[in-house]
Amino acid sequence: QKKHKVAIVGSGNWGTTIAKVVAENTQANSDLFEQDVQMWVFEEEVPVPKESKHYKGDDKPQKLTHIINDIHENVKYLPNVALPKNIIANASLEDTVKDASILIFNLPHQFIEKTCNTLQGKILPYARGISCIKGVEVNDNGIELFSEWIGRKLNIYCGALSGANIATEVALEKFSETTVAYDPPTMDSQQPTPRGSPRASEIDLSQLSGKQDQHQKIKLYPLPSEYPPLSHDNVKKIFHRPYFHVRMVSDVAGVSLGGALKNIVALGAGFVDGLGWGDNAKAAVMRVGILEQVKFGKMFFADSVRTETFTEESCGVADLITSCSGGRNFRCAKMSVERGMTINEVEEQELNGQKLQGTSTAADVNNFLKKQGLEDEFPLFTAIYNILEGKDKAENIPERIESKKYP
Ligand code: NAD
Ligand code: 13P
Repeated sequence: QKKHKVAIVGSGNWGTTIAKVVAENTQANSDLFEQDVQMWVFEEEVPVPKESKHYKGDDKPQKLTHIINDIHENVKYLPNVALPKNIIANASLEDTVKDASILIFNLPHQFIEKTCNTLQGKILPYARGISCIKGVEVNDNGIELFSEWIGRKLNIYCGALSGANIATEVALEKFSETTVAYDPPTMDSQQPTPRGSPRASEIDLSQLSGKQDQHQKIKLYPLPSEYPPLSHDNVKKIFHRPYFHVRMVSDVAGVSLGGALKNIVALGAGFVDGLGWGDNAKAAVMRVGILEQVKFGKMFFADSVRTETFTEESCGVADLITSCSGGRNFRCAKMSVERGMTINEVEEQELNGQKLQGTSTAADVNNFLKKQGLEDEFPLFTAIYNILEGKDKAENIPERIESKKYP
């Protein structure tokens, strides 16, 4: 029997953390997975920081891939965390995904389009994907989840992982939970024996996204029967660790939306905290935030989103709580109010190359709502976008959300 080869597309703060989790699991489940995990690194040159225990008095910038493969630490995006030696940093995207049957997408959503363009035609046609990206794409097709967008672009099935997962806490093996949604069409369970090339099936995207108006087709190849099936149990084994508990669900849209939309709410929580308004104000923003998240899911992904995904799973309410306590969107929004700076300036100053996702998600969601004439139905999302644009003030949030009834 063949083993699954897992590749990680991305190596930022969360990308490197997930690579660590996965590389520990490929070692622990050697019956299912090849040990080595290729991790694509957007190459750059950085010095080993003076504070690192690997600093040897040399301040000359070196290739990040060389540093990672040499000292097994991502000194720029996940400093002071020892990485398993079976993570192989690779600057070539094509080489990273070669022969990989499982592709894990984990990079800021700003860069996914260019990355997928490069990947087209370079991956195994029957590869399966999991998107760890928190964001949504708004384009001429309307609104798309990244799981859906990646699936359409690469003609593969793509599930989603999202949860209350501040990367550095997971990397330090502090306990957390996550939610993985994986629900490919039934062709995978049929496991046809590949004599010659297995035949692709045409799948209506609406079957995967839960959107009634999405009737584009993608061609999906079944996973050849030489591989262990990607049942929920086996997918769970890619990610589950004693410190990182996975709950498997089928609601890909709910999981993806939970991660994307909470980033907007976290900005709002940061704004009111920055005003010094305290925990009660933040809780009010979170209460309305989760209601708008559920309403958005139910309104636009009606066929698949389950309210319980938001209210019961890590990717819903738990991620909202953690993100509004210590996430980067929360912290940067808070600092922007405290320092009287734009949030982009704070991002540049504070995050050392890490990227906020909430600012562009707020703009994408607003763009989508505006086109439908539905801004008033989501007063918190709308107020947060207007504050980012300098058209409204954080002080006005209570008034904006005051009289709205949900759903
Ligand atoms: P990050 O914020 O650390 O971003 C930095 C990464 O972007 C680096 O790998 C860098 O090389 C890459 N990059 C910069 N310019 C690029 C370019 N032009 N092309 C391609 N890549 C480029 O990223 P992250 O924290 O790993 O976030 C990835 C996803 O995971 C996001 O959607 C985020 O919302 C989500 N997420 C993050 C956390 C967290 O705590 N960091 C937790 C859960 C989910
Ligand atoms: P930030 O991107 O705001 O840090 O959120 C991290 C996260 O998604 C925690 O689950």
